[in-house]
Amino acid sequence: MAAPVVRTPASQGLDLLVQARRSVEPGLREWAGQLPAVARRWAGYHLGWLDAEGRPSVEAAGKAVRPALAFTAARAVGGTGQDALGAAVAVELVHAFSLAHDDIFDGDALRRHRPTVWKAFGVPAAVLTGDALLSLACKVLADTPGPQSARSVSWLAEAVAQLVEGEAADVAFETRTDVTVAEYTAMAADKTGALMGCACALGALAGGGGDVRAGYMAEFGRHLGVAFQIVDDLLGIFGDPAATGKPVGADLAARKKTYPVLAALASATPAGQQLAAMYAAEGALGEEQRVRATQWVADAGGRQQAQQAANLELAAAFTALVKADPQPQALDELTALAGVLTHRKA
Ligand code: FPP
Ligand code: MG
Repeated sequence: MAAPVVRTPASQGLDLLVQARRSVEPGLREWAGQLPAVARRWAGYHLGWLDAEGRPSVEAAGKAVRPALAFTAARAVGGTGQDALGAAVAVELVHAFSLAHDDIFDGDALRRHRPTVWKAFGVPAAVLTGDALLSLACKVLADTPGPQSARSVSWLAEAVAQLVEGEAADVAFETRTDVTVAEYTAMAADKTGALMGCACALGALAGGGGDVRAGYMAEFGRHLGVAFQIVDDLLGIFGDPAATGKPVGADLAARKKTYPVLAALASATPAGQQLAAMYAAEGALGEEQRVRATQWVADAGGRQQAQQAANLELAAAFTALVKADPQPQALDELTALAGVLTHRKA
């Protein structure tokens, strides 16, 4: 007799991501298929279904975190996942836009185990790909019928403005030496929290939840986004590159002031001071220095503090979620999703 399938919250969260990927993919392909030829090819590469020569490829899809939030948020307010298809497509397109531009800013050559779009086609192509995806996202929401259409476009535009603010702060932090953990958290709420919050809000609006519940859902997603970003930072330093698809240590090599680093720098420990001296020195960091810096971040308590901060954000997310009065099953699902997003390996 086959062993019974045990559904742990972790497997439930992963299932939701897989289902969201399956549910959003046809819509994404259909909408992206309406782009004009050149942008369609670049976008198809960036979204993972074409290779660099324009041939079909099955290599590289994202985790569909934001679509999963949109679908589940619609169910949380009594709608169906299907109600949120336009919302899910739109937030994934905005996410893809932001990654196309961000990889240029960061000079990152790899994403999801493949050359980034600027690396494959050049910087102008990557800028234009992002622009095409962003305008397509607006069109998807505007053309999705329903009373929430105009409100959704407005929410999305607001989220993109916050994304820009967060990204600008992130870039500014690179040349500042006095960044605080609080400033970092505000930056992460804009850079990563805004779109996750928007995914939840748009899902709730599409599910018929109204503005107030959508607002609480947005707050849930925003805090969850901060937790997710801090975990992203932890993975950037301590993660397994085979799982993340990005070279490990790149954040440290670029002297990025991520949460674990800022916590270590503020720690007044010997390891924190050594890290500060390394961050202040001129020149590129070699492999051996990166390994030492990684150890210092851990020894100075940066790893542990970052994990604690992620847990606190998660707690704040649930406080907001309860105010949105979610349907019990969707509450379980959002709990499972939040768990997977903050205990992930990639
Ligand atoms: C990883 O998402 C992405 C983040 C942690 C957010 C990063 C935020 C930006 C790049 C904002 C950039 C803003 C502008 C305006 C350029 P993920 O792990 O879900 O990625 P996946 O889709 O590969 O799974
Ligand atoms: Mg970046």
